[in-house]
Amino acid sequence: MSKESFDLVVVANRLPVDITTSVAGEVTWTRSPGGLVTALDPVVRNADAAWVGWSGATDLALDPFDADGTFLVPVELSADEVEQYYEGFSNDTLWPLYHDVIASPAFHRAWWDAYRRINARFAHAAAAHAAPGAKVWIHDYQLQLVPAMLRQLRPDVTIGFFNHIPFPSVELFGQLPWRRQILEGLLGADVIGFQRPSDAANFRRCVTRLTSVKARSRQFSLITDQGSRRHIVAGSFPISIDAAGFSELAKKPEVLARAAEIRSELGNPQIVMLGVDRLDYTKGIRHRIKVYGELLRDQRINASQCTLVQVASPSRENVGAYQELREQVEVAVGRINGEYGELGHTAIHYLHHSYPQEEMAALYLAADVMLVTSLRDGMNLVAKEYVAARNDLGGALVLSEFTGAADELTGAIMVNPHDIDGMKEAYMHAAFMPPAEARRRMLRLRRKVLNNDVAKWAHSFLQSLEVTAELNAHPVLGGAGTSASSATTPS
Ligand code: G6P
Repeated sequence: MSKESFDLVVVANRLPVDITTSVAGEVTWTRSPGGLVTALDPVVRNADAAWVGWSGATDLALDPFDADGTFLVPVELSADEVEQYYEGFSNDTLWPLYHDVIASPAFHRAWWDAYRRINARFAHAAAAHAAPGAKVWIHDYQLQLVPAMLRQLRPDVTIGFFNHIPFPSVELFGQLPWRRQILEGLLGADVIGFQRPSDAANFRRCVTRLTSVKARSRQFSLITDQGSRRHIVAGSFPISIDAAGFSELAKKPEVLARAAEIRSELGNPQIVMLGVDRLDYTKGIRHRIKVYGELLRDQRINASQCTLVQVASPSRENVGAYQELREQVEVAVGRINGEYGELGHTAIHYLHHSYPQEEMAALYLAADVMLVTSLRDGMNLVAKEYVAARNDLGGALVLSEFTGAADELTGAIMVNPHDIDGMKEAYMHAAFMPPAEARRRMLRLRRKVLNNDVAKWAHSFLQSLEVTAELNAHPVLGGAGTSASSATTPS
């Protein structure tokens, strides 16, 4: 019988695989898309860990199973629950609210009830598979109530929470009818991690303004029901990728050959521009395409000389805002191709698919200019993958200021995606950059990405968790009648 409890339990909305069942009932799995899985996969692969998450299928009861050495614990969701908890509260309430209301968040009480119910289900599954004194690492906005729920069930475990997306300002977060419950859910963790210092600062401001806890510095404490002081850290831990692994992948002869083949399939244009995103309104895909269209219109480029490849992987297709975006993007692509395409020279190659990592690496190598133009983005790991792939020091990265990656990747050409004229200049600068400048910038970018990889990120988060757990293992009695207190050790 396989082992059933683990020293490290990862809890995320999705398992790192997508499950499909054939008509004959045979279950197969493939790697799931998204930044979170990309980041965590190498962390759990090298640890004695279990991963609790949803399989991606509805009404599918599955026993825990081993996949590539990780013990996977599927959490079942019915079709109704997917609609209310995943498509509804997670992706039509929290997602737009946390991304600065680029789309309008919808507030529905039935969605909130489902969110609470499903968070409790994840908490129970984690509690059942955590060894005594284990570390449980909970991920992302779909599961913000799990830390406090799990603490109730298993006070012996150490709890970390990492938010992969931005955390909004108190003015926006304050719109949420269940704002206090969400904050109290998160405060069940020992360490609450964010991508950028500004996200962590927003969270602390929300806690201070909307609860009785004063969280004025990175480390603060609250007085528990038992009257002891519990330390909590809320700080930034910018996530990354398996940079060395990605760089190695991009050195493989078959990947290099595929990159050359892609350029030739595109008709060997002088300049290949590339966008790679989930088809999501936060990614600034419409802005990106508009800029490209205007450059064609102004005849600063033409379709035989320059082509744009836009990979837009299907995402959250039952949510209205995503359906609208797809319509808008496809209309814009069609219009530009109709107007500026030439026989044998398509202006925009629009690919509504997901691709395996090898193909992505080949695309990065084939692209002279990588366009990351998010309107708001927790980190953006695509930008880091592009840099890691460019062992040849070629290529140029255009990067939105509104990504977490912009804090670190200062060698990129920074853009405000709302500034269409500014973006046009940035595209031209990137496309016709003198090789010496391109090399210099890429070297700078690579230093950052290769030195701060996902292993380092996980290590620094887990180390912070250990230090906080150690502090909390020796509780000091707090003042009677005090519900909260501010920190004594700012860092
Ligand atoms: C982002 C989120 C993840 C999510 C991923 C894919 O990276 O931070 O939590 O898993 O998008 O989205 P999906 O809705 O398909 O899980």
